Amino acid sequence: MTVSAVIGTQWGDEGKGKVVDMMAGQAQVIVRFQGGNNAGHTVIAEGEKFELHLIPSGILYPEKKTVMGGGMVVDPWSLLEEIDELRQKNISFDNFFLSDCAHLVLPYHLILDQLEEEMRASQKLGTTSRGIGPAYVDKAARRGLRMGDLLHRERLAARLQAALSYHNNILEKAFGREPYSYQELFNSLWEAGQRLAPYIGSTTLLLDRWRQEGLNILFEGAQGTLLDIDHGTYPYVTSSNTVAGAAGPGAGLGPGRIDRVIGVTKAYQTRVGEGPFPTEDPGPEGDKLRKDGGEYGVTTGRPRRCGWLDLPLLRHACRVNGVDWLALTKIDVLRGHPQIRVATGYQVGEDKLEEMPTDTDLLQKIEPVYEMLPGWEEDLINCRTFEDLPANAQQYVQFIEEQLGLPIQLIGVGPQRQQIITRGDWQ
Ligand code: GDP
Ligand code: IMO
Ligand code: MG
Repeated sequence: MTVSAVIGTQWGDEGKGKVVDMMAGQAQVIVRFQGGNNAGHTVIAEGEKFELHLIPSGILYPEKKTVMGGGMVVDPWSLLEEIDELRQKNISFDNFFLSDCAHLVLPYHLILDQLEEEMRASQKLGTTSRGIGPAYVDKAARRGLRMGDLLHRERLAARLQAALSYHNNILEKAFGREPYSYQELFNSLWEAGQRLAPYIGSTTLLLDRWRQEGLNILFEGAQGTLLDIDHGTYPYVTSSNTVAGAAGPGAGLGPGRIDRVIGVTKAYQTRVGEGPFPTEDPGPEGDKLRKDGGEYGVTTGRPRRCGWLDLPLLRHACRVNGVDWLALTKIDVLRGHPQIRVATGYQVGEDKLEEMPTDTDLLQKIEPVYEMLPGWEEDLINCRTFEDLPANAQQYVQFIEEQLGLPIQLIGVGPQRQQIITRGDWQ
């Protein structure tokens, strides 16, 4: 029995979906523990492309149990849409479980997300507009509605009335907007709840049982460490803890139960939305990364900002997650750059920094110090062993391992399930 957490070490979109899909072959239970449909995880399984936002990637294996944990925030209508789309592709929901503690993202959260962004004017965050922040605010303010509420008509009515009287007040008085009709929202929510009811239950109980039965459990992180509300580039972050430690509260397992943490790292760096990005390359080489890597958001279609690997940020991510080993993705995309830049530290005036400053304003101002590594021209997509990689690509991998003091046990060389190199004891 092994409990593994697979998390992003950058600003999201590292390729977590693909790594989880590949590692799910060795697990029986796959669990999401935070975030909502701000996530977009692409998996290409047997030639077919799936874009998952709420449902864990394990759903593509009919016999595996997939769980949406209580730490998530879930838009019930989006979830139904995702279920319907997957069902149309003959995906089975026989082993799908939805925590009764997961919070609901409701229409007023979507509006508030948009209105708050407008109010931020030049300091906007560039959220995904999925209502994630406002839903977590309601959770912390203890006026949120939870999945379990959908199972009880009277309770749902009372909780929705209370939440709506608060939110309608804000919408009308602070923003001059139309209030929501209670009855319309209630009817729509009750109907959605009736459809979701067969999946809703106490998933902590199930997880504990499966763990005791010796099943392998895989946690699928969403977003990335630099978007973590505590350990990311605040305020340019999402509203949940994205680090591996959040799998405990987000799914209901004790901290000692997680056996290993796998950090998914893209071979270069991307970011969607606003905020500091010291190694961003707005020039033609950055454009080449975007083009070759297909760097456009799965959730919003926005072009991703592209740049070079940043070791101080990665060191920070490995530390705050307790990463045991790394999965390096998209190394194939680096083909055709005569030289590959890697930031090893930062220059701030006269001072040199080796670690990421936790002061976001300072991070906006620092200049990366680069080491230049030789590139390669070969297509890596058919490489299946480390030795198949050209010498300069091997050197790139080894350089990162030495700098971080961690092994890289999976190396992604293409988007398909089998386009990956495995090394050492990754199972
Ligand atoms: P996630 O949010 O971390 O799951 O990542 P996304 O799915 O948003 O973005 C990663 C993109 O890269 C997807 O389109 C994947 O299909 C693709 N991808 C994942 N691993 C690799 C790889 O090793 N090489 C290439 N070329 N593409 C990859
Ligand atoms: P996956 O799981 C990349 C970013 C948004 C914005 C910030 C806050 O696919 O890696 P939010 O809507 O969460 O309040 O937006 O976080 N963001 C992501 N960026 N990948 C994601 O998920 C993201 N989820 C949120 O772009 O900058
Ligand atoms: Mg993504």
